[in-house]
Amino acid sequence: MGRAPGFIREAVASLPPYRFTHNPQPVKLDQNEAPDDLAGELRAAVQQRIAALSYNRYPELHPVVLEEALARRHDWPAEGVVVANGSNVLIQALVILAGLERTVVSVKPSFSVYAEQARLLGAELVQVPLGERFSLPVEELSAALSGRSGVLFLTDPAAPTGNAHDPEDLESVVRAAERSGTWLTVLDEAYHEFAGANHAGLVRDVESAVSLRTFSKAAGLAGVRLGYALAHPEVATQLRKVLLPFKVSVMQVAAGLAILERPEVMAARVALAASERERVSEAMARLPGVEVYPSVTNFVLFKVDDPAAVHAGLLAAGVVVRRQDHLPGAAGCLRVSVGAPAENDAFLAALDGVMAVAP
Ligand SMILES: Cc1ncc(COP(=O)(O)O)c(C=O)c1O
Repeated sequence: MGRAPGFIREAVASLPPYRFTHNPQPVKLDQNEAPDDLAGELRAAVQQRIAALSYNRYPELHPVVLEEALARRHDWPAEGVVVANGSNVLIQALVILAGLERTVVSVKPSFSVYAEQARLLGAELVQVPLGERFSLPVEELSAALSGRSGVLFLTDPAAPTGNAHDPEDLESVVRAAERSGTWLTVLDEAYHEFAGANHAGLVRDVESAVSLRTFSKAAGLAGVRLGYALAHPEVATQLRKVLLPFKVSVMQVAAGLAILERPEVMAARVALAASERERVSEAMARLPGVEVYPSVTNFVLFKVDDPAAVHAGLLAAGVVVRRQDHLPGAAGCLRVSVGAPAENDAFLAALDGVMAVAP
């Protein structure tokens, strides 16, 4: 890769590209996607909606119809629901909203997009190491907030570690940020469905808190690109100003509305993922040389002595998992998504084989 031309901002030139390699192996367990695609009937419902659309007209300025459907689902005021093309886009918008020329605070390890957007947008970045067993470092986080202003990103369930944070710890950080009057707190709840818990109640109580959700995981629409924020209406009004007009296409809205009409599809997927997660975690924990971290999500973080060799061995056996060992605080770690039962069997057999020959 050559050097960036001199007219490119230093913040961009100095940032490495997003770290993701597409591997063609058949058992794909590296992006925490839903393992099952839209079933025939649901696919037909999306196609029916799309067939009736006008392609020559702009979509709604903001996807109000989808926002209203989400408001009904979450019993949330519709003016407080903000939909965008992926929660990644909302992360960027939230940094622009309250982090630009200020500070972004997150924990480490955590989802890499918070730090990348902070660096790109020229915010000061403070990453506080997670505590014992990936717990929230409550005092250190409160200290990091003190005397500063900006955006605090908390991920619960945590990613890539997979654990649920203690709700009291989490609330005490959110309240410390609220008391300061200078912090927007983003609770990234991308995986909350798999944990059977969420922070809507806390966000309802705290004007400075926003809950971030995605259609990419439990809803099984990662390819469609849809995410949304649940916020207080005044915060949502400000957030909409940051997002580009006409940001969500009519096709995306059609897919989102179709899945919301079939909540039982998502519920069945979540139940299967939760039981498979337990089965996979228990089987992995029986393998010598594998340390498994508790998860309430649709993925499992695990630690081995030689993550590069284990990753390569799994690839050779046709299974793709994600390396996480480059992340601060995740030395030796790999992450496997919970797949369909047959994929999980293939992963477990491959891991067994790889660990049996590990030095
Ligand atoms: C914690 C977390 N937040 C947000 C996202 C991004 O989701 P989306 O597909 O809606 O951009 C991910 C995706 O992996 C994630 O793990």
